[in-house]
Amino acid sequence: MVVLTDLRQEPPCTGRLTLQTAAIAPDSTVIRCLDWDRDRFDIEFELQNGTTYNSFLIRGEKTALIDTSHSKFRTLYLEELRSLVDLAQIDYLIVNHTEPDHSGLISDLLDLAPQITVVGSKVAIQFLQNQIHRPFATRTVKSGDRLDLGGGHDLEFVSAPNLHWPDTMLTYDSGTQVLYTCDVFGLHYCDDTLYDETPSLLEADFRLYYDCLMGPNARSVLAALKRIEPLTVDQIATGHGPLLRHHLTQWREHYRSWSQAQAQAEPFVALFYVGEYGHSDRIVHSLGQGLLKTGTAVELVDLLNTDVHAVRELTMTAAGLVLGMPPQTAPDLEPILSTILAAAHPKQSIGLFETGGGQDEPIFPLRNRFQDLGLKTAFEPILIKSAPTEATDKLCEEAGTDLGQWVNRDGPLSHRSQKPNSALNVGLDQALGRLSTGLYIVTAKKGAVSSAMLASWVIQASAQPPGIAVAVSKDRAIESLLHGGDTFVLNVLEEGHYQHLMKHFLKRFPPGGDRFEGIATYAAENGSPILAEALAYLECTATHRLEAGDHWVIYATARVGRVAKPDGLTAVHHRKASNHY
Ligand SMILES: Cc1cc2nc3c(=O)[nH]c(=O)nc-3n(C[C@H](O)[C@H](O)[C@H](O)COP(=O)(O)O)c2cc1C
Repeated sequence: MVVLTDLRQEPPCTGRLTLQTAAIAPDSTVIRCLDWDRDRFDIEFELQNGTTYNSFLIRGEKTALIDTSHSKFRTLYLEELRSLVDLAQIDYLIVNHTEPDHSGLISDLLDLAPQITVVGSKVAIQFLQNQIHRPFATRTVKSGDRLDLGGGHDLEFVSAPNLHWPDTMLTYDSGTQVLYTCDVFGLHYCDDTLYDETPSLLEADFRLYYDCLMGPNARSVLAALKRIEPLTVDQIATGHGPLLRHHLTQWREHYRSWSQAQAQAEPFVALFYVGEYGHSDRIVHSLGQGLLKTGTAVELVDLLNTDVHAVRELTMTAAGLVLGMPPQTAPDLEPILSTILAAAHPKQSIGLFETGGGQDEPIFPLRNRFQDLGLKTAFEPILIKSAPTEATDKLCEEAGTDLGQWVNRDGPLSHRSQKPNSALNVGLDQALGRLSTGLYIVTAKKGAVSSAMLASWVIQASAQPPGIAVAVSKDRAIESLLHGGDTFVLNVLEEGHYQHLMKHFLKRFPPGGDRFEGIATYAAENGSPILAEALAYLECTATHRLEAGDHWVIYATARVGRVAKPDGLTAVHHRKASNHY
């Protein structure tokens, strides 16, 4: 459930918020923002024990702050920080990752202390520059780079892409042997006990957090664990929950064994790219998002930071391949390309993209070579010639989903097949299939991106306020437009007058394809398309998202509704089995 930007405003906070400040090592202080009553994370992740957002101050000859906090702590956090340090004396803000619960106060801090240099991975800095619309000093770092603060605090950065977010890195202070990990090794547990003294209290939340945030990227977790192996770590200063010191071996072993089990069990797609060129990072992130929606694991491989043996091994074992070609100005990749071509095999599917390409496109001959080897093309080559937009992101996400669906073609999310549901006994399958519904087209538009799907799993779910619920398969294109706060239209189809609409919306659209071409629509007040031929429509706002097996149940309140034909009847949908809609 990784999302690059989930920057929607939090609802006004009514829960108990407190602060805890403590010295954790020489010249090193933690500011823990304790959010005692928070009961949701990423909308769908239910919390039992609140959470904390931990920020750290290191004072060598230079002063560095590591991560900030959630915007709901604006006043409390900034007052506390001021009491600890003159803000004009802070030299660096190290951003281990940019999710709003840690970066929510960066803009405020830069207003108060414009001299600060923001240090982060390339993706993190790009992301912040898109969010904070004014210049600020930056320093981009990658794995192995160092920042000596003086006074014995020599910081080393370890990149950990995809450990929940693509921009994640870890910061290691070799002077104090503290490893600052932000989300990694975290847990949502709010308590004013600073350290992990009683693991039995924490284990369930540690596991839940791993499963929700880290498990989907188990291979990336293993790669990050390998990178931190040579470091002598005295404590892990996480961004959520207690800091880990007393049972370090146990916590690390959990991450290793859970990730290993997960990585062995699941098919994965190897995504080869060159991070330093063009907009590959962003493209790779969107493709990865689309793959993850189908439950497919992703292994990211930056071709400038790997060796041919690793590339061969991954190519041979992956269920699918994505290859991002850099512009021709980039270093020669011929040896690596030859390795991939030699190890690829016909049981795989391939997708290619190219960033900053010139007039001649070597990507098409390359696609042909993979086709000649018998690989199935999951999506047509994506050519990125100018800065990516929201529409590019969506196109790449849908391309990733297409590849993921191919990899999982017999998996639980595939509703395209009509095979019997082997997980159910016949009676249950058929009884479930007797649940009948109406037929609807859900339409949504967010910025420049629009989408639609035929839906039958729709019910009225509340009378006051008027509310509905729609079950949306996790791999649907429209799914990413149905997060909390997003708006959409539920178009009700009319009995005897829906076949052409049903046929149209069931077409297999290419990634980024216009789903409304040839369909008469007009804009709802909320901006989403209303089908001119709908019997009725409701304008809805998604407020809750519940994970329900292979679907998300989207609960939405309806604000506006209209019936176009007062005498018309809703199209009714009867089935005989539960293994298809
Ligand atoms: C009768 C019928 C009802 C459907 N109802 C739903 C539904 O309620 N939820 C859902 O996620 N998909 C439903 N689908 C599947 C999608 O409408 C369909 O697969 C979709 O057009 C594919 O879109 P995609 O490219 O986003 O995967 C239904 C399909 C049919 C044939």
